[in-house]
Amino acid sequence: MRLWHNPASPFVRKVRIVAREANLASRIEEIAVMVSPVNPNADLAAQNPLVKIPALQTDDGTVLYDSAVICEYLDTLHAGMRLFPAGKARWDALRLQALCDGILEAAVLCRYEIAVRPQEYRWSGWTDGQFTKIRNGLDALAKEEPSWKGAFGIGQISAACVLGYLDFRFADEAWRKTRPQLAAWFESVRQRPSISATTPSA
Ligand code: BEZ
Repeated sequence: MRLWHNPASPFVRKVRIVAREANLASRIEEIAVMVSPVNPNADLAAQNPLVKIPALQTDDGTVLYDSAVICEYLDTLHAGMRLFPAGKARWDALRLQALCDGILEAAVLCRYEIAVRPQEYRWSGWTDGQFTKIRNGLDALAKEEPSWKGAFGIGQISAACVLGYLDFRFADEAWRKTRPQLAAWFESVRQRPSISATTPSA
């Protein structure tokens, strides 16, 4: 399999964590790509018309995207504990993943706004609106974390990617200050090999 990726992307990180949890990392060749909304990558565009990462080419040549689809696909390829549970737990896990993906979309948009958009085109009201989504999403995560009780599946993997991305790109946000229990949970999962091996660095 081939994964178009950039280690800074929190959506790619979800896939890389799932690949490690499923013991599939050695079967995936990683192809590094630079992505930018204003400078599309032609190689990636040939695989994914949305020109977004992650994109995964499976062994039969099918190209899958986005991260949620790729993660669920990888979860079908191993015999270990399911990262996408069945039954009622499935809907809780998918909703938690959707909450985290929404927080990450807002955070990545803010990152582009700050790092890519020229100063004269920046709109602080728009960025403030995205940060409101991020903070409300974090409060929702903090509220539901006590119900996880040691579970570690796609929802918790997504949550770890959210918190790791905020530490990586928005350390000034100091999300731990008002959410100590969520911070304690993150400390407890940071030591997992799949999480520590995929921590983004500058
Ligand atoms: C980042 O550098 O923050 C980033 C890179 C790729 C995708 C999303 C975010």
